[in-house]
Amino acid sequence: MNKLLEKVELHVKAQFIGQEGSHDWQHIDRVRRTALGLQKQEGGDPLVIELAALLHDISDHKYNGGDFEEGQKVVLKLLSQFDCPEELAIKVAAVVSVVSFKGALVMDSPTSLEGQIVRDADRLDAIGAIGIARAFAYGGSRNRALYLPEVQPTLHNSKEAYAQDQGHTINHFYEKLLLLKDRMETESAQKLANERHAFMLQFLKQFKAEWS
Ligand code: ADP
Ligand code: NI
Repeated sequence: MNKLLEKVELHVKAQFIGQEGSHDWQHIDRVRRTALGLQKQEGGDPLVIELAALLHDISDHKYNGGDFEEGQKVVLKLLSQFDCPEELAIKVAAVVSVVSFKGALVMDSPTSLEGQIVRDADRLDAIGAIGIARAFAYGGSRNRALYLPEVQPTLHNSKEAYAQDQGHTINHFYEKLLLLKDRMETESAQKLANERHAFMLQFLKQFKAEWS
């Protein structure tokens, strides 16, 4: 394995091991594996993709007090400490800066093929059976209700409004998870998203049938 990748992996693993199940080392590792799988179909620079996948949640706004810009700064600083060539570090930081979802009505920033691949891989991990498990793990970690039928979903038009929402976890499906299928940018991810999307619809149907 490339020395730089090895150092980054060790650093990220140490930071994420034992974190809550929606954002733990296993999430990072799944996104890395999915992204490298997409790269085989779609092309793109595998080193940029793997580094960005490993680093994509290194300073997530949900965990750093709400700063959406911090991630790319942390990536640049860390990669320079690991003697990464500056040109490579800039490419990786640019990918990390565009991965996060910022609201139903907020368009995703245009990005490189490597950025599309890592963003698609992160979003594939947010849908399907694993996505459902992660949503309730995250909701649990923030003491959110599973479902409050009287509280309707909001389609957020700014990243600030999206980040401040305190709603119940079923709303998160309508505010983000069910929208991801149509936001996949690579063809290979679009194909993988269909089955996962259908499974979430089935889950919601069953959940609501049991509720009522
Ligand atoms: P992003 O930066 O696009 O939000 P992440 O990889 O950080 O992507 O992970 C997002 C995951 O966090 C989602 O898959 C979801 O499970 C969880 N999550 C985020 N916000 C909420 C929420 N309000 N309710 C439930 N889960 C949430
Ligand atoms: Ni992620």
